[in-house]
Amino acid sequence: MKIILVTGTPGTGKTFLAKELSLLLHYRYIDGIKIAKQVSEGYDKIRRTLIVDRRKFSSSILALIRAQKASKNSPNGLVIDSHMSHFLPARYADLCVVTKCSLNALKRRLEARRYPAAKVRENLDAEIFDTCLVEAEELGHKVVVADTSRKAGKSLAQQIKNQLRNQS
Ligand SMILES: Nc1ncnc2c1ncn2[C@@H]1O[C@H](COP(=O)(O)OP(=O)(O)OP(=O)(O)O)[C@@H](O)[C@H]1O
Ligand SMILES: [Mg+2]
Repeated sequence: MKIILVTGTPGTGKTFLAKELSLLLHYRYIDGIKIAKQVSEGYDKIRRTLIVDRRKFSSSILALIRAQKASKNSPNGLVIDSHMSHFLPARYADLCVVTKCSLNALKRRLEARRYPAAKVRENLDAEIFDTCLVEAEELGHKVVVADTSRKAGKSLAQQIKNQLRNQS
């Protein structure tokens, strides 16, 4: 069973791309927010985000992968959508897609969600510092960057499919 992680700063297009990818590859889409809610240790009111321990999150993803593998109708692959998905140890993942977009596009998308200014700033900073990308590379993942600045969900998914094919 192939495992594709889709990580990136909030608003950079993980869900958009992960859903395209799962349709194209016929893999099962896994919503990381559901997992985060299960392992969450509360809600940070100031940062307006769930408090989630990365090790607990990663263990929970691993348990889910094992359960999917063992199930009768196990899929050919999973696409795991979360800005914490790259905390899964690299040996369990076939590919780690990091979504990125221009800072202008990100600002527009986050403001459209009516995020408070501090939360927009925090996410723009994360994108400027490439936090998810740097972490994914440091953790040893096979990383592919997907730029979602322009409307290219389907062609981006196709590119990633080709990369997976070349790899196996
Ligand atoms: N490839 C793309 N082209 C154009 N617009 C996009 C693309 N990908 C995402 N968007 C737009 O950007 C916004 C944010 O996308 P999305 O919800 O997929 O981000 P996300 O990374 O999953 O965010 P979060 O971490 O908060 O779940 C959406 O309004 C979506 O329509
Ligand atoms: Mg999302």
